[in-house]
Amino acid sequence: MKKYAEELDASDPLSRFRKKFFIDDPELIYLDGNSLGRLPLDSITSAKNLVEKEWGVDLIRGWGKGWLNSPEKISEKLAKVIGAQPEEVIIADSTSINLFKLVLSALKFQSSKREIITDDLNFPSDLYVLEAVVKVVEMDHEIKIINSEDGIMGPEKKIISNITDKTALVTLSHTTFKSGYTYDLIKITQAAHQKGALTIFDLSHSVGSMPIHLNKDNVDMAVGCTYKYLNGGPGAPAFIYIRKDLMEKLINHIYGWMGKKDMFDFSLEYDPDPTIRQFLTGTIPVLSTLLIENGVNLILEAGIDNLRQKSIKQTDYLINLWNDELKKIGFSMNSPIETSRRGSHISLGHEEGWRIDQALINDMKVIPDFRTPNLLRLGIAPLYTSYVDIYKAIQRIKEVVEQGIYKKYSKEKLKVT
Ligand SMILES: Cc1ncc(COP(=O)(O)O)c(C=O)c1O
Repeated sequence: MKKYAEELDASDPLSRFRKKFFIDDPELIYLDGNSLGRLPLDSITSAKNLVEKEWGVDLIRGWGKGWLNSPEKISEKLAKVIGAQPEEVIIADSTSINLFKLVLSALKFQSSKREIITDDLNFPSDLYVLEAVVKVVEMDHEIKIINSEDGIMGPEKKIISNITDKTALVTLSHTTFKSGYTYDLIKITQAAHQKGALTIFDLSHSVGSMPIHLNKDNVDMAVGCTYKYLNGGPGAPAFIYIRKDLMEKLINHIYGWMGKKDMFDFSLEYDPDPTIRQFLTGTIPVLSTLLIENGVNLILEAGIDNLRQKSIKQTDYLINLWNDELKKIGFSMNSPIETSRRGSHISLGHEEGWRIDQALINDMKVIPDFRTPNLLRLGIAPLYTSYVDIYKAIQRIKEVVEQGIYKKYSKEKLKVT
């Protein structure tokens, strides 16, 4: 079986990209690129250069030498990854803050409509944001959280049938964080538009792992993070996408000098920048913004269609291994089996999920992550995950369960996984 994985690696056209990442321990199997991507080697050089030369030598002059346009520099490349035009994308803040800006903007724009539709597979932070904006606007919006029947598949049909003329906004995670279910962007967007509703998709678990065609699919707005499959680094800023024709209709209600038309005139009245820069608000996190570039370069060089192909092949391989080796020792499949409905991570349930996760990290050199109540999330990052990684991870998971290695860990859950 290991030989088969080795053969798959040997014939993998993307295998050369693994060498472009910093891997200090070749025995460590990293299956958490869906939470925090690995460090691209080029980012080590860039970080040194940014700190020593740009910050250290240029000092304040750096703003005039390119820092001010650092969001655009990255957005231009990122736009290619998500099927958008450069002027429709901007790097700023965190996903949650960007979502807040867009939801606030959308609800104000759709002021005659009072319903928001989302689902219970959405990332909790996204739901907190909805709750907060509804409280802030004080217009008695109702948030309709549509429930998934099994916690795995998105309730797509129910969402579509719940969209009415009263719906202001439909907002979902394109790929959901626990099961990795992926919504059909076109179907949801068309259904929303038929009733005059706007859409905002959170692309955090899709971007960099699958092709996204925001323009072609006529998506209104999107947000997403850059630290997962884009390998932007811990806490790297997120992005906002607004379709070009909507830009002039939407207002960023979080005013700030970086979103102002002429930020350096320091006039006391706010005059919004007519471009997507309006959604910047405050000072750009220059270092972390510019460090996103190397990861995006790698995605573009590998080609997003090729990455998706590999991701599908690898997740299929993982599912087969689960079926042959893990199912009989108590693991359930908590991700969609259907390829077109699946992102790039696979969630496996086990009643001892938490303790198994601890044993894998501490004793077996495997880093997955754990999600409540009992899920091991195995992230496949096609730029650097190998087939042998997947094979070995499954063998180590088996060992942890069959030899009871997990039993030495407490059932009490720690705050950080
Ligand atoms: C789908 C999704 N949305 C939003 C977030 C939160 O992003 P941020 O911390 O940038 O607000 C995450 C974090 O993992 C996520 O998975």
